[in-house]
Amino acid sequence: MSITTAQVFLDTNRTIAPISPLLFGGFAEHMGRCIYEGIYDPESPHADERGLRKDVMQALRDQSYTVIRYPGGNFLSGYNWLDGVGPKAQRPRRRDLAWQSLETNQFGTNEFIEFCTAVDVAPMLAVNMGTGSIQSASDLVEYCNVPGGTYWSDLRASHGFRDPHNVRYWCVGNEMDGPWQIGHLDAVAYGKKALEAAKMMKWQDPTIETILCGSSNDLMPTYPEWDRTALEIAWEHVDYLSMHYYINNREEDTASYLASAARFERFVDTLEGTLRYVKAKRRSAHDVYLSWDEWQVWHSIGTPLEGGWTEAPRLAEDVYTLEDALVVAQWLNVFLRKSHVLKIACVAQIVNVISWLQARRDGLLKQPSYYAFKLVSNHARGKALEALVKAPGLETKQYGVVPALDVSASYDREAQQGALFVVNRSQTEAVVTDLVWQNGKTIHIDEVWQLAGSDPKEANTWDEPNRLVANGISAPTVKDRQATVLLPPLSFTAFTFRLE
Ligand code: AHR
Repeated sequence: MSITTAQVFLDTNRTIAPISPLLFGGFAEHMGRCIYEGIYDPESPHADERGLRKDVMQALRDQSYTVIRYPGGNFLSGYNWLDGVGPKAQRPRRRDLAWQSLETNQFGTNEFIEFCTAVDVAPMLAVNMGTGSIQSASDLVEYCNVPGGTYWSDLRASHGFRDPHNVRYWCVGNEMDGPWQIGHLDAVAYGKKALEAAKMMKWQDPTIETILCGSSNDLMPTYPEWDRTALEIAWEHVDYLSMHYYINNREEDTASYLASAARFERFVDTLEGTLRYVKAKRRSAHDVYLSWDEWQVWHSIGTPLEGGWTEAPRLAEDVYTLEDALVVAQWLNVFLRKSHVLKIACVAQIVNVISWLQARRDGLLKQPSYYAFKLVSNHARGKALEALVKAPGLETKQYGVVPALDVSASYDREAQQGALFVVNRSQTEAVVTDLVWQNGKTIHIDEVWQLAGSDPKEANTWDEPNRLVANGISAPTVKDRQATVLLPPLSFTAFTFRLE
């Protein structure tokens, strides 16, 4: 291991934007074992009287999630929400064509709302724009949000939920640009349908905020034209444009993989440009922001029909390593650095499926990226700061030269508390880093946590669940608004500080 040096300069007046609390969201889909055997499992010894997994809910609370998106995903585009409400014994068993699984409908909209209340997160519901109609979308808003005295709101009350759910965030479809999507549409057809659906939904409840489907990823042949076209049509009736993106290191090019932040930033920058263009073209006073409502490292899918049509097959139950956690940490850094335009983000998914949280009937395994997310979601508050970074460059095949350190920071003026998040993406070099505060009389570093290891492929296992966790380490002394820390290769370090 060799050693290099770097400097990180912070000024709490050099702000980017308020950090939207909704950047720390999750996604729960009827896919594999996310809902069934993940958050809902009446047979688990950890289930409460409603069948909700208490240990899973506690892990979600510990991660300070703020919003959870539901029920899909590709599942959404063949889903009739009416199948999932009312007496459980009368709910139909159906084939879910998206994931080639059997859907029992024992968990539906009302169970999801109860789950959100128990975890203390805002629900984000999605309406089906595949097989679903604009009428069924409007009906679901009425079912959820109208206090009473109408057909759909009274039906909700008859199902045991007298008070409205007041769901504020609504996705208008899912990945409608993808040929794999049930009822896939081209951008013009989708834009028109989304506009009419969003109009009706907002007429049902003008306080809701709607999310338009953007491109499924930046490799789609229709990207970013899809986004521009759909936005131009639906602009005034939508509040966010969705982004989805999954990454992996299938090429075993770890240097490039550890520079993934460059790719995430480019994706946001392109869509930010698209938003500005459409706003100008429409001469609009209305603003639309970005909602990165599916993001995660995703290695493999599994084979849905391996055991025939089954309930809750094992799908996309990935093992996540240290390098994956360092990519997750960079993703979160990008969220803070782009907080002026990015207002919602939901990791896909919250348990079992493409998730850093794995549930067995009798226990939970937390993979390394769980700790990266938890550090940022618990400490990034107030406004994002623009950190100036002077760090040695690393050569990568995909992104050219990138700085060894990937950094974000936040400061909450009221609480006078800040946080600094630093990934050392070098695989070989420790970086002796000067942290320099350019304002404030006195600086105190309160706590420091570090997730680090020597092997990028190291992971936690059921036998050794704590190989990679975020360890508290001693805080460096600050003198004359400056502290020096040694950041090991392949590490993520979070600092909290106070300013006087
Ligand atoms: O999260 C898994 C799947 O990934 C979702 O169903 C879909 O929206 C995306 O392609």
